Amino acid sequence: MKSLTRRDFLSKSTMLAGSAYPAMLALGLMKTVPAHAFDLERKPNGKKVIILGAGLAGMTAAYELNKLGYQCTVLEARERTGGRCWSIRNNSSHTETDRPPVTARFDEGLYFNAGPSRIPHNHELTLHYCKELGVPIQVYNNVNESAYFFAEGKGTLSNKKVRNREVHNDVRGYMAEMLAKSMDHGNLDAPFTKEDSQKVIEYLMAEGGLDADKLYKASARRGYIESPGAGDKPGRIADPHKLADILHSGLMDPDFYNVAEYTHELQMTMFQAVGGMDRIATALEKKIAPMIKKGAEVTQIHNVTEGVKITYKDQAGTQEMQADLCICTIPLPVLSNLDTNFSSDVSRAIDYIAYNQTGKIGLQFKRRFWEEDEHIYGGITHTNNELTQIFYPSNDYLDKKGILIGYYNFNEKAQQVAELSYADREKLALQKGRLIHPQYDQEFERSFSVSWHKTKYNMGGWAVYTSETRKNAYPALSKPDGHIYFAGEHLTYLNAWMAGAFESARSVVASIYGRITEAQIAYPTKSTKG
Ligand code: ALA
Repeated sequence: MKSLTRRDFLSKSTMLAGSAYPAMLALGLMKTVPAHAFDLERKPNGKKVIILGAGLAGMTAAYELNKLGYQCTVLEARERTGGRCWSIRNNSSHTETDRPPVTARFDEGLYFNAGPSRIPHNHELTLHYCKELGVPIQVYNNVNESAYFFAEGKGTLSNKKVRNREVHNDVRGYMAEMLAKSMDHGNLDAPFTKEDSQKVIEYLMAEGGLDADKLYKASARRGYIESPGAGDKPGRIADPHKLADILHSGLMDPDFYNVAEYTHELQMTMFQAVGGMDRIATALEKKIAPMIKKGAEVTQIHNVTEGVKITYKDQAGTQEMQADLCICTIPLPVLSNLDTNFSSDVSRAIDYIAYNQTGKIGLQFKRRFWEEDEHIYGGITHTNNELTQIFYPSNDYLDKKGILIGYYNFNEKAQQVAELSYADREKLALQKGRLIHPQYDQEFERSFSVSWHKTKYNMGGWAVYTSETRKNAYPALSKPDGHIYFAGEHLTYLNAWMAGAFESARSVVASIYGRITEAQIAYPTKSTKG
C-alpha cells in the first residue's frame, strides 16, 4: 500500500470540511492555543507591585504581571506557598492559634488535601492553569452510590449505614409512585392533555422503577444482597426501605439532601491534581520563585502619596518596602487585625464580611478496607453527626494503604471539633467513624487535622456573603483603595473555589494594566460561564 505523506494527508484532510485544523494539530504542525490564555500585550513599564500573600491569587497575579513587564515582590508569612491550597504529607507542619506547631507523620507517598480537593469541570480557569502550568489532573469521584448515609437518631434506619443507592432509589421510587397515582386520578392533570398525562406517567414509571400497577417495589438499582454470578446465581435483591422509615430516620433531612451532584459545582465530572492539589501551587511557585519572600509577616499596609509602604517582620527584624502599587490577598479575618490606613468604607467591609469555620482530618489506614470490603472507590459518606462527611480517596485505588478524610465539617460542628485537642479530634473521628466502618479499630495508624478558622494566617475557611454584605461591603473591596487592590476567592462570586483566586487575580491584573497603560480593559475578556 502506498504510504501517505504529510502533504497527501493534509491535502486530503482539507477536502473534508473543518478537518484541516485538527489534522494539523494531530501532525504537530500547529501549536494549540490555550483556551483561556490571558492575552494582554506586554509593555515593560518599570512599575513595582508588592503582592501580599503567596496563595493562588497572589502567585497568579505575580505570574501574570511579570509576563506583562511589572516588577513584583510577593510577601508570604509562611515558609511555604499555596495558602489553603495545601496537601498534607509526611513532615507537613501546621500552626493553629493557642497551641504549639504540629508536624504530620504519614507514610511516604500518602497525602490528603487539607484545603481544596476537587475541581469542577466548569471552572475553566482552574483547568486552564493546570494546563498552562503542566499540572496533570485526574478524575475526582465526587458522587458514589456505594458510599453511605449514616443518621444518628431513633428511626428504624438510624445508627446504620445505608448505601446511597438504596435511599436514592427508594425515595425516587416512592415519589414517582405518588405522582403517577395522582396523575392517574386526574388530580394533577389540569395543564395536560390525556396524551401528555400518559407520557408523564410513562416517564415516572421509568424514573421511579415502578411496576405495571405503578407501584414502587424494588429493583437491582438499589443494589443486591447477593451478587449475581455464574450458574444458579441470579442475584438477590432486598425489599425497599419503607418511606416512613427513611423519613423518621432523618435520611430526608437537610444533612442528606441537596448534597453532591445537586450543586452546580459538585456535578461530575470533577478533577484533582495528581499527587496532591498543592501541585498547582508548587507549579506557580516555580514560575515566580525569585519574586517570593517567605517568612515575611506583614504588619502594616499604608497608602502613601507616591504609592504604598508595607512593613513586615522577618527573621532579621522589621523591614519596610515601598512600591507603586499593592495587591493584598490576605484573608479578611487576618487583614482586619493589621495596621492599615484604608478608607473607612474598606475597613468596614473587611470587618463585616464573614468567613465560615471548617476543618478536616486525614486518617491513615494500613488497609484500604473501604475498597476491599465495601467496594467504595472515591466519593463521600454523609452523616448527621460531627463528621458531616467522610471522603474516600480518588487516587491510588487498590493500593495497600490510604488516607481517608475522616471528617470535613462546617460552622457549629467544625467549631466544636476545633476546640478539641489534636488527640481528641482524632478520638472523635475514630469513635464516630467506626460506627460506619468497624475496620477503623484494626486498620488505623495516624491522623492529622486542620481547622482553618484556627489556622494562623487564615483564621477562617472562606468568605460567606449575605445579600446584605454582598450589597454593602463587597463593592468597597472590589475596587482599589488608593494604590491598594484586593484579590482572593473572597472577592468573587466563586467563594471557596480555587477558580475564585484565579479569576480575581486576573481581574486585578487587568485593572492594574488598564490603570498604567490607560487602556480600556474589560475583564473578563472571555466568557467563563459554566
Ligand atoms: N469548594 C469547597 C469544597 O469543595 C467548598 O468543599
